[in-house]
Amino acid sequence: MTVTRERALDRDRLRRIGEREEAAYRARTPRSAALLERARRAMPLGVASSFQTYDPYPLFMADAHGSRITDVDGNEYVDFDMAFGVLAAGHSHPAVAAALQRRAPNGTCYTFPVEDSIALAEEIKLRFGADLVRFSNSGTEATMDAIRVARGYTGREKVLKFEGGYHGHHDDVLVSIQPPREAMGEPDAPNSVPASAGIPLSRLAETVVAPFNQPDALEAILETHRDQVAAILIEPVQFNIGVVPPLPGYLERVRELATEHGAVLIFDEVKTGVVLAYGGAYEYFGVKPDLFCLAKSIGGGVPIGAFGGRAEVMRVIETLDGSPGAARAGGAFGTGTEATTIPGGATRVAHLGTFNGNPLSMAAGLATLTEVLTRDAYPELHRLAERLTSGCQAILDEFGLPGYAINVGPKGCVMFTPERVTSYRDFIGLDSELWTAFFFYLVNRGILLPPGPDDQWTLSVQHTEADVDRHIETFASFAKELSS
Ligand SMILES: Cc1ncc(COP(=O)(O)O)c(C=O)c1O
Repeated sequence: MTVTRERALDRDRLRRIGEREEAAYRARTPRSAALLERARRAMPLGVASSFQTYDPYPLFMADAHGSRITDVDGNEYVDFDMAFGVLAAGHSHPAVAAALQRRAPNGTCYTFPVEDSIALAEEIKLRFGADLVRFSNSGTEATMDAIRVARGYTGREKVLKFEGGYHGHHDDVLVSIQPPREAMGEPDAPNSVPASAGIPLSRLAETVVAPFNQPDALEAILETHRDQVAAILIEPVQFNIGVVPPLPGYLERVRELATEHGAVLIFDEVKTGVVLAYGGAYEYFGVKPDLFCLAKSIGGGVPIGAFGGRAEVMRVIETLDGSPGAARAGGAFGTGTEATTIPGGATRVAHLGTFNGNPLSMAAGLATLTEVLTRDAYPELHRLAERLTSGCQAILDEFGLPGYAINVGPKGCVMFTPERVTSYRDFIGLDSELWTAFFFYLVNRGILLPPGPDDQWTLSVQHTEADVDRHIETFASFAKELSS
């Protein structure tokens, strides 16, 4: 295909296409619009999570199988959103559905341990080279728990995260996710900017923010907070500002700096884990953190979270001083059993949760990892992802659109900005008008992407080459109309 130089966009045409496509969306989806009206009378913004809403209104979904999802108006889509990347197994994979069907009639919650939790922990240990694993119910809980473990282990309080990184909705990490320009501060020493009302300023002081992909800035920031940083929490690929991979050698340097500064390195593998590779980003990049967090894809679609890593760090859930015999003493909190410097006498890090290790989640997780996302699933996932990326890139080149296509493993997107994005500050330059017209054009033709330029497509083992080609062809017709 001939490569054309990037052309100036015809903004009037783009606006007309955008308006027409939004009108078509409204015409195709009246039941979703009506349901949102009703939902708003029962739930703020009409949704259960504020991530689920977008303008003019979200699609309400009714059914999903394999790579397809159907809305309440009966429109079917090839799903490239896959529930924000949860479904590398695809919708209702038969193995996952069968595991749930076997389990559900036999009790859905015990709050006593089940054997499946051991098998699932063993499977995760194997994939991630970990010594110990614990379960939770979401990515939010996994990062929250891993941070507490890191604090208990180091006796320090600060957490370092990266600008543009999302790690869930607890106070420590709901900071500098997509901060507004006027608040974000210097590029090499960003401010800690709350991403929500309701976050106490006292918490904010414990969260230090660094720019992604800039090792020298990280080194300087760690120096400023020497001996205070309990954990460096990082998404190995920044998957909440499109797709921003680490520059060569960057994760290795982060690893070195964490070790030098005595901080626990936590990989947030909620999006990367068991998706990029069998052993997640750990295997894909060959860099080993002290702890890692998992959620989304490990459950094949049920609520689940996990974190794990080095025994020495994880053992603080048993006892802070490493004495194995203390495990049974003092109940969940380990209080009052021996002298400790912790106010209140805690001798261990509390990791709790009624639904942790829930039998349904454990059964679904085990089926997902041992029957679906097995080692031999990854080559085909990668092949299809490369096909989708190179197909989209060829279109961008042919029509001279400002942007580039990128994937890391089975996750990718078109970044509508001509320059490579290496950190959040570059991401702010994305052409949101172009992205919005693109999103509605595709959705109206049966290609469902995540409803925001900060997310990306995820391929599942149930996507086919025909699905991918349809995505490429639809993008081509959009680009053609925009450029003609
Ligand atoms: C990298 C990352 N970490 C953590 C989370 C939080 O996970 P959950 O929504 O399951 O709480 C997300 C959610 O999108 C995420 O992308």
